[in-house]
Amino acid sequence: MAHTFEQIFENNEQWIAEKLSIDPDYFGKLSKGQNPEYLYIGCSDSRVTAEDLMGAMPGQIFIHRNIANLVVPTDSNINAVVQYAVEHLKVKHIIICGHYECGGVKAALQPSDMGQLNNWLQTLRDVYRLHQAELEQITEEKARFDRLVELNVQEQCINIVKIDHVQKMWYKTGFPTIHGWIFNVRNGKLIDLKLDILEIFGEVRKIYDLKPLG
Ligand code: CO
Repeated sequence: MAHTFEQIFENNEQWIAEKLSIDPDYFGKLSKGQNPEYLYIGCSDSRVTAEDLMGAMPGQIFIHRNIANLVVPTDSNINAVVQYAVEHLKVKHIIICGHYECGGVKAALQPSDMGQLNNWLQTLRDVYRLHQAELEQITEEKARFDRLVELNVQEQCINIVKIDHVQKMWYKTGFPTIHGWIFNVRNGKLIDLKLDILEIFGEVRKIYDLKPLG
C-alpha cells in the first residue's frame, strides 16, 4: 500500500526490477504495441482492480472505467473508446463489469442533489424506472440493491449494441461479443451473468438498427 508519493515512485522502481528479472526485454516488447482482444468497461471504484482480478497481463485488455460502468450515448469519451477498440484494435469481446456494493448505484437510489452527479446518475435512475416493477417486488433492501447492479450491467450491454461502430463491425465480422459480468467485492468472485443481449433487447432492436443506413 502506497502511503506517500515517494513510496509510489519507490514501488514503481521495484515493479520495474521485478519485471526485468523475469524478462530483460519486458519493456522492449511492451513498447512495440498492443493487441488486446477485450474491451473492459468497469466502475472507477478503487476496489475493482480490473487487470489484477482477471489475472491479465499488460497489453491484453483495453480498459475504460467510469462511475457505475455506464454507457451514455452523449459521452464522447466512451464513444471514442468503443470506436477505437472496435475499429482499430478489433477487439473480439466487450465486457461490461459491474460490482456489488457500487457507490454509484447506491447514490442513484437516494434522492438528493449531488451536483454534476445528478446528470450522470440519471442513466442509473432510468434503469430503475425501466425495471421498477421487478425491483420493488424485492423486499430486502440489499437484494434489491444487488439486483439493480445486475440490471444496470444488462442495460449498459444493450447500450453498447446501440452504438453504430459496434453494429457496423458486427455486420462485417460477427464480432464483438458482448458480455455482462459482476465482480462480487464481498468474496472476490467474478460472475458471468450469461446475458443473451440480443434476446433481451428483443424485437425493439429494430428501431435501433442502423443497417438500412449502410
Ligand atoms: Co461502483
